Amino acid sequence: MIAVQQSGSAMNETNKRVDPAAPAVVITGATQGVGKALAHEFARDGYTLLLVARDEAALAATASALTKAYNVEVKFATADLSTLEGCAKVEEALRRHGLYADILVNNAASMTAGFFQDADPATLRKIVDLNARAVVDLTRRFLPDMIARRRGGILNVASVEGFMPVPYQATYAAAKALVLSLTRALAYETMGTGVRVSALAPGAVLTDMHAKAGAEYSRYVQLFPVMNAEDVARIGYRKFMRGRKIILTSWFNRLSVFARRFTPDLLLVPAMGWLFRVRDAEGNLQLPRAPAERKDGSGHARAGTSSGDGPSPPA
Ligand SMILES: NC(=O)c1ccc[n+]([C@@H]2O[C@H](COP(=O)([O-])OP(=O)(O)OC[C@H]3O[C@@H](n4cnc5c(N)ncnc54)[C@H](OP(=O)(O)O)[C@@H]3O)[C@@H](O)[C@H]2O)c1
Repeated sequence: MIAVQQSGSAMNETNKRVDPAAPAVVITGATQGVGKALAHEFARDGYTLLLVARDEAALAATASALTKAYNVEVKFATADLSTLEGCAKVEEALRRHGLYADILVNNAASMTAGFFQDADPATLRKIVDLNARAVVDLTRRFLPDMIARRRGGILNVASVEGFMPVPYQATYAAAKALVLSLTRALAYETMGTGVRVSALAPGAVLTDMHAKAGAEYSRYVQLFPVMNAEDVARIGYRKFMRGRKIILTSWFNRLSVFARRFTPDLLLVPAMGWLFRVRDAEGNLQLPRAPAERKDGSGHARAGTSSGDGPSPPA
């Protein structure tokens, strides 16, 4: 009896959500880098887009450039996706524009680099909230209706960093590990539903992200092959459309992920530490802060490293 009631109410909820609105591709973090390049890929194939980011002027400029280039409908919504309200705003924006999420691209993310103990706690929370919690939140909002329609898909932008522990970018890499694990599990759960769930896992990409995180002089940026965002998006889009679950973007990344399976952490983690340690322009190593320097009056750590969003007050 209880089971019948539950499935009845679930069905009502599903019926309420499925409406005759028009399909759209929701792309988070679409104003620059990989997200913007992915927006070009979808627009080129004629999809209606809903772009999401925080900077309204950048959203408006991106939307207008896409409309002009491909003659497609492009809407946008400003939202800080590291907050619950920000994620809710995406659903509201779709409703307002008479659209539904046919495809969701969870791309927005931020990063910080440096010693974990010196990082601003609010910045770390934001990385978890944006890079991991928002991915779960938005996926849960839109996946049920995709399954009900028996069409659509979710493309989660992860990273090669998600396959391994990464000292000095520990929280970012751990969040990407969640994205990869979530994607693999949902790809299985949604098998046969008509919905595809994939993760795009690039290596280093030429975007502002490393500089915003303070990692532009780290060895990995200097030594690893760096791809441009357009190539990453082109490969990601093509393989997503073909239904590839985990999308690696170059032979080097495929080799790294393959080698990771056979490399014990004893060797791997120190190597990652050497590659990802924060350095200055002259190559000098960043040192951990002295404990006295690290504490503020309330006992919280202060921002010890640069971050994508700048230092924020301890909360
Ligand atoms: N760059 C790389 O080397 C690299 C490598 C592997 C994977 N990736 C992944 O690729 C994706 C894109 O990275 P990217 O390098 O293109 O980043 P990016 O150039 O720094 O762009 C980040 C985008 O996310 C938006 N964003 C940031 N914080 C947000 C928030 N709180 N709420 C909503 N939107 C927010 C930004 O717009 P606003 O600032 O206006 O909000 C911007 O549009 C990320 O998932 C990243 O982890 C990047």
